[in-house]
Amino acid sequence: MSSNTLILSNGIEMPIIGLGTSGASSDILIAAVKTAINTGYRLIDTAAAYNNEEAIGEAICQCISENLVKREDLFIVTKCPTPFLHPNKQESALKESLQKLKLGYIDCYLAHNPCPTDLTVKVEDIWKGLEMLYEKKLAKSIGLSNFNLEKIQRILNIAKIPIHCVQIELHLYFQQKEMLEFCRKHKIAIMAYAPLGAPNRSFYKRFCIFCNQSSVIPFEDPLIIELAKKYLKTPAQILLRHLIQSNLNVIPKSTNEARIKENFDVFDFKLSGEEMEKLNSVKQNSRTFWLDFLIGHLEDPFKDERQKQME
Ligand SMILES: NC(=O)c1ccc[n+]([C@@H]2O[C@H](COP(=O)([O-])OP(=O)(O)OC[C@H]3O[C@@H](n4cnc5c(N)ncnc54)[C@H](OP(=O)(O)O)[C@@H]3O)[C@@H](O)[C@H]2O)c1
Repeated sequence: MSSNTLILSNGIEMPIIGLGTSGASSDILIAAVKTAINTGYRLIDTAAAYNNEEAIGEAICQCISENLVKREDLFIVTKCPTPFLHPNKQESALKESLQKLKLGYIDCYLAHNPCPTDLTVKVEDIWKGLEMLYEKKLAKSIGLSNFNLEKIQRILNIAKIPIHCVQIELHLYFQQKEMLEFCRKHKIAIMAYAPLGAPNRSFYKRFCIFCNQSSVIPFEDPLIIELAKKYLKTPAQILLRHLIQSNLNVIPKSTNEARIKENFDVFDFKLSGEEMEKLNSVKQNSRTFWLDFLIGHLEDPFKDERQKQME
């Protein structure tokens, strides 16, 4: 295994770093994706819900026709949106995404959350729908996003195809140790979303009544600043290196050329075992992405955590 990829349980290589694209407007995203591919990124993370698949498809097309990259060297991730989380609807949702992305297959297809609009659909049904897409070779790997351990276990109980990967909020202040251990045991790769702690997502912090209001952003952590000085790297690079060195995929979002390059420049140094240990022991906060729109849904993945916050 090269240090720049993770091997999924079906043998497919997944780049360890990718470009996040949520909240990035289409007009600037074409240039951002092209910068990323030119820099060496091979994984792009999107979702039908981000409304930017067409721009990403356009950027990929341009990069392929300019011979910057081959399709088979890219690893594109997209997600099935809530209203389509239904075994009879997931194929049409994926086909629509593929059409926008101008691709014949997706490298990884994720259920965006465990809460279908159709309340008769259970998480097990969502998985059966994903398995069908995998068997039809429309998706080279399949996985889940924003599922909790209980729901992942329910899927493992019925799965014919293993869960290849889960995409979850994970960063210095929310390291999800129990989830990591569980996924390692079951050979499920982890994609860490918001790996920089989503510093500019004031929306979530402001409107989420259950968030720890005193939370600070990981960039400003004294240990991160100390390590940045020691290695002549930026705080973002230390945050990403910590996760990569723990064999976690990271998908930092940026549309800024310099920061896209900066975030990829994390392979020329190594944190010591002691430094990794210190970073792993940093005091933890609550999650940032509570997905409050799922409150009240039977499959709300964060219901128990919300309750604990209230106690
Ligand atoms: N599955 C899900 O439900 C879910 C939820 C959230 C996110 N995601 C995925 O994960 C990706 C990343 O998460 P995120 O966008 O919330 O948070 P993030 O990657 O932790 O942080 C992105 C923010 O940090 C800034 N930034 C990026 N690199 C920087 C650097 N080197 N120095 C300083 N600031 C920097 C970006 O601004 P600039 O663009 O101006 O650089 C942006 O505002 C998303 O884009 C999306 O693809 C998935």
